[in-house]
Amino acid sequence: MAMRLAVLLLLCFFSDDGVAASLARTNVASLPGFDGALPSRLETGYVTVDEENGAELFYYFIESEGDPGSDPVLLWLNGGDRCSVLSALFLEIGPLKLVVEPYNGSLPRLRYNPYAWTKVATILFVDSPVGAGFSLSRDPRGYYVGDISASLQLVKFLSEWFKEHPDHLSNPFYVGGDSYAGKIVPFVVQKISEDIEAGIIPTLNLKVIREQVKALTTNQKCPYAHGIGIISDQLYETIMEHCKGEDYDNPTNVICAQALTRFNSLLGEGSFAHILYRKCIYVSPRPNPDNIDRRILKEEREVIHHPPPQPSIKCNEYSNYLSYFWANNNATREALGIRKGTVNEWARCHDHDLPYTRDINSSIKYHRNVTLKGYRALVYSGDHDAVVPFLGTQAWVRSLNYPIVDDWRAWHLDGQSAGFTIAYGNNLTFATVKGGGHTAPEYEPERCFAMFSRWISDKPL
Ligand SMILES: *[C@@H]1O[C@H](CO)[C@@H](O)[C@H](O)[C@H]1NC(C)=O
Ligand SMILES: *[C@@H]1O[C@H](CO)[C@@H](O)[C@H](O)[C@H]1NC(C)=O
Ligand SMILES: *[C@@H]1O[C@H](CO)[C@@H](O)[C@H](O)[C@H]1NC(C)=O
Ligand SMILES: *[C@@H]1O[C@H](CO)[C@@H](O)[C@H](O)[C@H]1NC(C)=O
Ligand SMILES: *[C@@H]1O[C@H](CO)[C@@H](O)[C@H](O)[C@H]1NC(C)=O
Repeated sequence: MAMRLAVLLLLCFFSDDGVAASLARTNVASLPGFDGALPSRLETGYVTVDEENGAELFYYFIESEGDPGSDPVLLWLNGGDRCSVLSALFLEIGPLKLVVEPYNGSLPRLRYNPYAWTKVATILFVDSPVGAGFSLSRDPRGYYVGDISASLQLVKFLSEWFKEHPDHLSNPFYVGGDSYAGKIVPFVVQKISEDIEAGIIPTLNLKVIREQVKALTTNQKCPYAHGIGIISDQLYETIMEHCKGEDYDNPTNVICAQALTRFNSLLGEGSFAHILYRKCIYVSPRPNPDNIDRRILKEEREVIHHPPPQPSIKCNEYSNYLSYFWANNNATREALGIRKGTVNEWARCHDHDLPYTRDINSSIKYHRNVTLKGYRALVYSGDHDAVVPFLGTQAWVRSLNYPIVDDWRAWHLDGQSAGFTIAYGNNLTFATVKGGGHTAPEYEPERCFAMFSRWISDKPL
């Protein structure tokens, strides 16, 4: 497709020292902790998305192990709060995984992931919003972003990135993400499609999504927990009766509030992200907003070490713990081309320690818009996720009121059901992943890979 980038790309950005700085890239030949050559080409880099504050998004571009010349290109975003996309890369869909073994002070090792989505697609993993992972802002004001501004920065990121990578313009292009990113993706796609129509940026072929709509999902936690045997009939009935119209996070009705406390304690007996998994500590910096405000917003330069709390090695979260040591290792940072004096300490997530405005309440209207424009979409849910239970996702997908094209049925892997799916008009597919948790590929990599590779090549699941 022809590139008509004139307007946007005439703005050429220069950093203070006068060097063109809209994009800096590093070809990564090998990675510390992984023996031998990488499974496919990896390029990392920074793209300036806010010149005024010197804000840059960091990316990992991993070419398909199949045919990078024709395979689709997928922009992948991680959820929040401000979690680094390295989590998606190492724990979910990237070509390398952390070897789970006790941390002993040596660099954590990496292994090949046979179910990487990069076997069939080229993936552009982006640390977004500014402040996530290795993305940064020179001026602390650059960290004041929200759903809308961060989405617009991603659109800008893409137009800059494709300008420097025109070879990939003709590949089908998809946008995807999970957890909180599912809320951003439809708006990003809407904006990209508007820019394409206006001739500002080039191609886009569609998107893959996982969504979170607060009102629907929190209200579906209760029916989900009830249906799966975590709460009693009585508690279910109390919540249904007394929490009608309440904000489940901040209920005003006293009976509702008490019932929800009980509800959370019962659900909290296991992992919210996968109800069959162990209850584990959350691996992220200890919440100390003042400290981190000082550290990041006021640009203190010293190297600080705040390793996250150590979970049991029996916990899925152990990989998160290891990722801290891998990402903060000097050899790693050098290999990735992390600029000196930028992000002194990589944190997996920034929980409430950086400003963020949730200024998109619901993205259903963007979903509707982009699917009506003809972009294909896949919405999937792990069926053991209590954070965003499939019931809520199923409900908002249904609320679009599109005709059913292929009614609810199982989809299979090795002759066994691997989940269930329903296909709607306007190329909208909803699927569950049997045994999947919140970030489904983390729990069911083989099934998710089958789902993704079929869908991305336009085959029925
Ligand atoms: C840590 O464990 C790794 C892998 O088992 C081993 O190669 C390394 O020598 C150990 N390092 C230390 C400091 O014990
Ligand atoms: C890593 O690099 C930082 C900054 O360049 C330096 O202060 C620190 O001593 C290095 N750490 C190791 C273990 O070499
Ligand atoms: C989003 O929700 C908040 C609180 O419910 C409301 O005040 C605000 O007007 C809503 N914004 C939009 C754009 O609908
Ligand atoms: C839907 O798309 C139309 C045409 O591109 C646009 O005018 C409208 O604002 C969009 N709606 C939303 C909610 O973005
Ligand atoms: C669905 O997508 C295919 C391409 O994958 C396209 O040919 C078709 O027109 C789309 N259908 C609708 C209803 O948009």
